[in-house]
Amino acid sequence: MLNSYKLTAATLINKDEMNSAGKLTYPEHIVVVMDGNGRWAKKRMLPRTAGHHAGVKSTRNIVEECVKAEIRALTLFAFSSENWQRPEQEVSSLMSLFISTLQSEVSSLHKQNVRMRFIGECSAFSEKLQDKIHQAEELTQLNTGLQLNIAVNYGGRWDVAQACKSIVEKVQAGVLQIQDVNAEMVDQHVCLSDLPAPDLFIRTGGEQRISNFLIWQIAYTELYFTDALWPDFNSEAFLTALNWFALRQRRFGKTGEQVDTSNVASHS
Ligand code: FPP
Repeated sequence: MLNSYKLTAATLINKDEMNSAGKLTYPEHIVVVMDGNGRWAKKRMLPRTAGHHAGVKSTRNIVEECVKAEIRALTLFAFSSENWQRPEQEVSSLMSLFISTLQSEVSSLHKQNVRMRFIGECSAFSEKLQDKIHQAEELTQLNTGLQLNIAVNYGGRWDVAQACKSIVEKVQAGVLQIQDVNAEMVDQHVCLSDLPAPDLFIRTGGEQRISNFLIWQIAYTELYFTDALWPDFNSEAFLTALNWFALRQRRFGKTGEQVDTSNVASHS
């Protein structure tokens, strides 16, 4: 059972030591719905786009925290397949923001050994944005630090559907047999199949819903909701979420007693 050790920036740096003591569990893979940019701007009588700009600063900071904490993977929901329904002006300003953010951030991310990947239907974007996406992926592909996944024009139902399509194609081609199709097989065909399933799901902005993000992958993920608006989600708020996660008992269908016993055995 995890104790109530309080996480601080200093303890994060010492994560291996803490883990071997059996005191803390760090998420290997964190996924985030960065919600609340619009409300942050509205509170300040600013246009919604100002909220998205402030959101980029928050994103930069959380990525840096993940690098410091040696988190293996961070997946961010930057634009959902449903976000096209927003006012045209907001969509186009978000597209410009993605381009300018990639322009300004990628070299710094590369220096931090971050590997970038985009998930979703990128073909719907302008050629310019698609080029920036490919350049970022190509430049950082050999990096071995934080795996940063950015979901753009992504929807969880689309992801499950594209996995099904790809399995059906393999069955039709005779590469797979219908009786081989099971949950593990679907797992191997959804996005991020090469990474551990998300351990921690964070949603800022006060809503308590999944909004079609990684619906297959988060079957056993711990869900953390905070009222903080994304531009206000600072290092301290992030550490609070990690601390909250460290106190979860993850049972994966087992009883609490079974989990306690196996933890004692694995640390003795
Ligand atoms: C949701 O807040 C936020 C978005 C749809 C955009 C998120 C994008 C960023 C934070 C920029 C990050 C950039 C990169 C390249 C990763 P909302 O507008 O729905 O807020 P509201 O619920 O208060 O209206």
